[in-house]
Amino acid sequence: MNNANYSSRISGFHKKSVDERIALIADMAGLNDTERALMGNSGNLDQEIGNHMIENFLGTMTIPVGIATNMKVDGRDVLVPMATEESSVVAAVCNAARQSYDNGGFITSMSGTRMIAQIQLVQVSDPYHARMAILERKEDIRLICDACDPMLIKLGGGFRELEVRVIDTLSGPMVITHIIVDTLDAMGANAVNTMAEKLAPFIAQWTGGRTYLRILSNLADHRLARARCVWRSEDIGGADVRDGMLLAYHFAEADPYRAATHNKGIMNGISAVVLATGNDTRAVESGAHAYASRHGRYTSLTRWEVTNEGHLAGSIEVPMAVGLIGGATKLHPMAKTALKILNVQSASELARIIAAVGLAQNFAAIKALATTGIQKGHMSLHSHNIAMMAGAVGHEVDQLAQILVAKGMVRLDIAEKELALIRGS
Ligand code: MEV
Repeated sequence: MNNANYSSRISGFHKKSVDERIALIADMAGLNDTERALMGNSGNLDQEIGNHMIENFLGTMTIPVGIATNMKVDGRDVLVPMATEESSVVAAVCNAARQSYDNGGFITSMSGTRMIAQIQLVQVSDPYHARMAILERKEDIRLICDACDPMLIKLGGGFRELEVRVIDTLSGPMVITHIIVDTLDAMGANAVNTMAEKLAPFIAQWTGGRTYLRILSNLADHRLARARCVWRSEDIGGADVRDGMLLAYHFAEADPYRAATHNKGIMNGISAVVLATGNDTRAVESGAHAYASRHGRYTSLTRWEVTNEGHLAGSIEVPMAVGLIGGATKLHPMAKTALKILNVQSASELARIIAAVGLAQNFAAIKALATTGIQKGHMSLHSHNIAMMAGAVGHEVDQLAQILVAKGMVRLDIAEKELALIRGS
């Protein structure tokens, strides 16, 4: 029984061993033996590593990892690991990629691997004067930033550009310095945050103002991944299907309510690869949505057009702050394995493949939506989840799922009744 009167004030919880923490939480929350064992099972992540990755670690939550097949990116066939709990996500990418494969697949590019860090300067009565004073120090700033990360410099990265903006805020004008740093194969949050913290006192000294925030921007618009692809009209079911898909895009382009869902579908694909490779899903998600609003109105991350030949051309441009080194990418054995399967040589290559997956996902979603609707495919995949929720095991899962789809009623109550019938017969 859950001990409803427990106190969440637990001093020194982080100092306890993992087993002690599990025992304590299990007692407080009234977990049974099965639930305790579940908390203690860290799956494919070594308990020791997990315990160092986050504070107050207990265990892991396993998310299915599947492979998107049929993907051809820049002429290379790639197998793409995707971590997602949503039934139709992997299938959608496989499907979209299959329909583009014979026409060459996806072509990608990248604007660079540069990250922005921001330094907030306040309490300056002459913000435009201060802005100039900072801009004049570009070479000093380069030296200060580059001294923070000799390894990055050795590899060819480091400080690249300086931007200083004066913004109007509720507290009056602020002078915002952007340092733009090429972080190469690292996502780069640590590198640029360290530089921003190092630089801030100098900025305060040069301007007589006071600095507060020193942190990267997730609107990584110097790190744009781009992908494009042409689906031949005859490969996707003809001009009617193509035109329905265009109308779906025009809807998303014009309406933020639709664009949010349209982009959510894109992120179904993107976040699944970002997660499987141990990268930061929230960084990529916030960057994508901020980028989708960059002209002052939230809109589609993809564009869809018709080529001269009457084929469907899709493209996507999206900030993609992912790395091959640092964070969980190098620590989590599953992330390392996912990167090995992808066989990518650089963060840019990874980012470009992820953009292609986002485009593929969007193709599949708008095609389904503009034709049969999303529920048919979705429910047929989801029927397996419902079957398992009803208690089906082994061969029962497929059998029950098929019955639910045939009946057109993928519902838990029906599944329970049908399972009883299967077992009774
Ligand atoms: C569901 O997870 C994603 C979709 O809603 C995307 C879309 O509507 O474009 C199907």
